[in-house]
Amino acid sequence: MLRFGLKLRLIWSHMSKACHRIAASAAEQSSIEVERETGATRDFSQRGTNDRIEWRADALATMKTALAIYPGSFDPVTNGHLDLIERGTKIFDRLVVAVLRNSEKDPMFTTAERVEMLREATKQWENVEVDVFDGLLVQYARQRKAQVILRGIRAISDYEYELQMALMNRKLEPHIETVFMMPAEAYSYLSSRLVREISNLGGTISGLVPPTVEARLKSKSQK
Ligand code: PNS
Repeated sequence: MLRFGLKLRLIWSHMSKACHRIAASAAEQSSIEVERETGATRDFSQRGTNDRIEWRADALATMKTALAIYPGSFDPVTNGHLDLIERGTKIFDRLVVAVLRNSEKDPMFTTAERVEMLREATKQWENVEVDVFDGLLVQYARQRKAQVILRGIRAISDYEYELQMALMNRKLEPHIETVFMMPAEAYSYLSSRLVREISNLGGTISGLVPPTVEARLKSKSQK
C-alpha cells in the first residue's frame, strides 16, 4: 500500500512538471506571436536609454494610426510638394507637413505666410495637418510620436543629400524610418528655388504652384 502511494506521488509529480512545461511553452509561443504582430523585439541589448525604450513602446502603441512627418522649407509650396502630400495621405493615417521655422536660407515668404499657403492648398485632405518646427527634426518627430519622416526624391541628384540626411537622422533616432516617395514625373524638374527665380524674373509659373501661391508670388515679385 505504501509502495502504491509512493508510485502515485511519483506519477503526479511527473504529470505536474509536464503540465508546467507545456504552459511555459504556450506562454512563450503567445509572446512570440504578440511580438510578430507588433513588430516588437525582445532584444533590448541594442537599445539606448530608458527614455528611448519608453518612446518605442509609445510608438508601437500608436502603430495602427501611423503618423508621418513631411518636413521642409516650403518656400513656397509647389505642385510637386502637393503631389507628394496626396500620395502620403493614401499611405499614412495622419500626415504632418512641418515647416522649418529658422531656416538658414533667406526665405522669400515668412513662416506664417508659408503655413497659410500650405493650409489653403491642403484643406481638401482631412488627415493632413500643417505645423511649424524648430531645431532638430528627429526631436520634433519624437515629440509628435511619429514613426516616419517622409521625403520626396525627384531625381538621382536628390539622392545623395537625402541619403545623408536619412542616415544621420537614423543615427540620431534609430526608431524613426525615413520613407522616400517619388512625385509624378511632370514635377521632377520643379523646385521652390526655381519657382522663386522664374517669378522674380517675370516668367510664368502657372501650373507649377497652386493659384493662391501664384498670386502671392506675383505680388511679391512686383514689389
Ligand atoms: O525643403 P528642404 O529645405 O529640403 O528641407 C530640409 C529640412 C528642413 C528637412 C532639413 O533641413 C531639416 O531637417 N532641418 C532641421 C534641422 C535638422 O534636423 N538637421 C539635421 C538633419 S540630418
